[in-house]
Amino acid sequence: MSITSLNPWDVRETDFPATGRPAEQLRFLLRYAVLAPSGHNTQPWLFKIDDDAVELYADRTRALPVVDPDDRELMISCGAALFHLHIALRHFGYAGAVATFPDPDDPDLLARIHMGKSRSASAQEQALFDAIGKRHTNRQAFEQRAVPEDVLITLQQAAHAEGAWLYLVQGEENRTALVGLIALGDRMQWADKHFRRELAAWARPSRNQRRDGIPGSALSFVSLLSQAGLRTGRTFDLGNGQAANDLQLATGSPVLTVLGTDVDTVYDWLMAGQALARVLLSARAQEIWASFLNQPIEVPELRPMLHKIIERAGFPQLLLRMGYGPEVPPTPRRSVSEVLL
Ligand SMILES: Cc1cc2nc3c(=O)[nH]c(=O)nc-3n(C[C@H](O)[C@H](O)[C@H](O)COP(=O)(O)O)c2cc1C
Repeated sequence: MSITSLNPWDVRETDFPATGRPAEQLRFLLRYAVLAPSGHNTQPWLFKIDDDAVELYADRTRALPVVDPDDRELMISCGAALFHLHIALRHFGYAGAVATFPDPDDPDLLARIHMGKSRSASAQEQALFDAIGKRHTNRQAFEQRAVPEDVLITLQQAAHAEGAWLYLVQGEENRTALVGLIALGDRMQWADKHFRRELAAWARPSRNQRRDGIPGSALSFVSLLSQAGLRTGRTFDLGNGQAANDLQLATGSPVLTVLGTDVDTVYDWLMAGQALARVLLSARAQEIWASFLNQPIEVPELRPMLHKIIERAGFPQLLLRMGYGPEVPPTPRRSVSEVLL
């Protein structure tokens, strides 16, 4: 296999070692897994290749104890990487048999995926694979242009296919209430100096060599200011600024959705991550961008209020806004060799 570029986003399918051993092929396919989204771009995953199977492990040294004290979003991130790997296996002609745990004896071992028999990918799976390199979290304002009803239905079907649900928050009253809750969540999170420190610790200045964290190019102005403050030893409560920013972004987004699960175990979080990846890739396959506004789920006091808005049983896991928008650059990734056990 020739590695022609050091940028993980430049992975080329023509480099797939078609005649290589299973372990070599799996190592190549992990290049698609590491392009998955993760909270604060922590990339909290590790992989172990065992002949024709890959084990996925949680890397809890990359946890976010303030914003994600139960490692819920960490599991979701790992689930997203698992889905990327699965869809890459499908693209290159393998069935890809996924077994998810967690195993009480080894809570960090989350899943094992076997290459499985050869089986050609469906047109839908090909489209999801093609979207991997085009998917980025887009924090820019979206166009007012509505997302067609049939596209929204495919996104809901994508969540269902992975055992989760995608609730569309519709109607002026509900949308306004939700946007208010997001802004309130911003103010509550930013009032906490531990939250600010944790965010600032993963925010990266524009020109830096780190291969994780959120680069300046992807951060909001408010987060950048806070990060600049950290370098002088302080972070500032910019909650009102962040709230105003998110209020504007959310209000202007044609689609506000909640991704959720019926049950709320570690297993469901992993499932939610696979559903998230399928939804985001389905969206990108149809030129739709997404970004996250999880504050009403991350702040426990706000969850009951979110439930009132969505009037649906189950457990909200992530809040997404979606729409058409401008291109954005990719964020950095660690290479496969850095995440291999
Ligand atoms: C579980 C999870 C939670 C996230 N939460 C947020 C969030 O609250 N705010 C945000 O701006 N981005 C959020 N993100 C997006 C990540 O910051 C983003 O995936 C990461 O920086 C990598 O960038 P990329 O998605 O453009 O590849 C989240 C992503 C995941 C998977």
